[in-house]
Amino acid sequence: VTTPAFDFASVVRPDLPPAAVKFTGFPKYNFVGGHNDPDSLPAADLTAAVTAVMQREARNLAMYGMTSGPQGYLPLREFLVRKLKTHAGITCTTDDILITSGSLQGMDLINSMLIAPGDTAIIEQDNYGGTITKLQRCGARMVDIPLDHDGMRMDALANALADLKARGIKPKYIYTIPTIQNPTATIMPLERRLEMIRLTQAYGVPIFEDECYSDLVFDGRRPPAIKGLTDWGGVLHIGSFSKSVAPALRIGYIVAGWDALSRLIALKTDAGTPAIEQMVLAEFCNAHFDAHVKKLNVALKAKAETMVEALAEQFGTAAEFEVPRGGIFLWVKLPEQVDTMKLFQVAAKHGIAINPGPEWSLAPGRNKRQLRLCFAYPSKDVIRAGVAALAEVCHKEMGVPERIANVKR
Ligand SMILES: Cc1ncc(COP(=O)(O)O)c(C=O)c1O
Repeated sequence: VTTPAFDFASVVRPDLPPAAVKFTGFPKYNFVGGHNDPDSLPAADLTAAVTAVMQREARNLAMYGMTSGPQGYLPLREFLVRKLKTHAGITCTTDDILITSGSLQGMDLINSMLIAPGDTAIIEQDNYGGTITKLQRCGARMVDIPLDHDGMRMDALANALADLKARGIKPKYIYTIPTIQNPTATIMPLERRLEMIRLTQAYGVPIFEDECYSDLVFDGRRPPAIKGLTDWGGVLHIGSFSKSVAPALRIGYIVAGWDALSRLIALKTDAGTPAIEQMVLAEFCNAHFDAHVKKLNVALKAKAETMVEALAEQFGTAAEFEVPRGGIFLWVKLPEQVDTMKLFQVAAKHGIAINPGPEWSLAPGRNKRQLRLCFAYPSKDVIRAGVAALAEVCHKEMGVPERIANVKR
């Protein structure tokens, strides 16, 4: 007897996202995603932390949630209470924190709590692609607000809120990445944060604040988190250890009042975020977080400078960008004739991975000539060689850059 072939294509739900493509390894010049600097990974201190916590607390792995309950490993929440106070100006207790499997899970939980199909969310116009796809999957309508050098524009937000109100629509939240925005790397100044709080209180619309990159302000100078500027309960705050320590650990957190947190905990049906990662982070962070982040920022700033130099050398005036004050990305604008969706495909054939701008926008035609380049993962040599290779491909396919340092290509 031959077993008949079976293909799940015949039974899957009709509303699934496009199927995944198989991972075949990283390209030679990898400028995509949110990877970190491998040379800055604190391997020895993490190794010591694993040994210490396992020797001390391995018995607790016998219980779901260890002895800390569903909100996550208590010493990690205790560390976060201190860190959020000193780094972000947020006063909270361990009861206000839910540890999540990456801040991506935090986003999923918040969307599950708030967004039903047809609901409206306000987002930033150039935006983290993951936020957009998640909201699309929830069936949300999105209203996007333009940014300037200081992040989301409050005049445009005020107009959007008034316009929605006039149409009888109450948005479920305003999503913002105020401290090192993705992809623009802007930092929203204090006055604008206060204005945002004022506006959202007036309209009774919550703020969803994503502080994924806030540890990576190169000079460490940043305004308090929005959550830290008000006692108003309408601010949901998420953060992550992905950018400050390591994305593969998959540890993030939500800070919220009990009215929201009790709902989010009920929606978190995975029976707990992996324990060893939480234990190791707590052990590591208590002893080393500040020193580690300081060192990491020095390394990232140097890589950002390398990429800035490489772009200036290879693209000349054809590449426009702001030198970032933090984070891991450059948000680059190329001349009008460049279509970064096309460039992305051709560059991939040459082993160069870039994030094309349209993926960071709602409107299909927007950000056509923008691209995002992550400088954290590649070495400085790879950054230089990769940007040169990209300039070559871009010149061949799109005719730019035409000249470099007065030399016609
Ligand atoms: C703005 C923003 N939020 C959240 C995430 C998700 O991070 P995590 O690794 O904590 O899930 C990312 C990842 O790049 C991001 O850019």
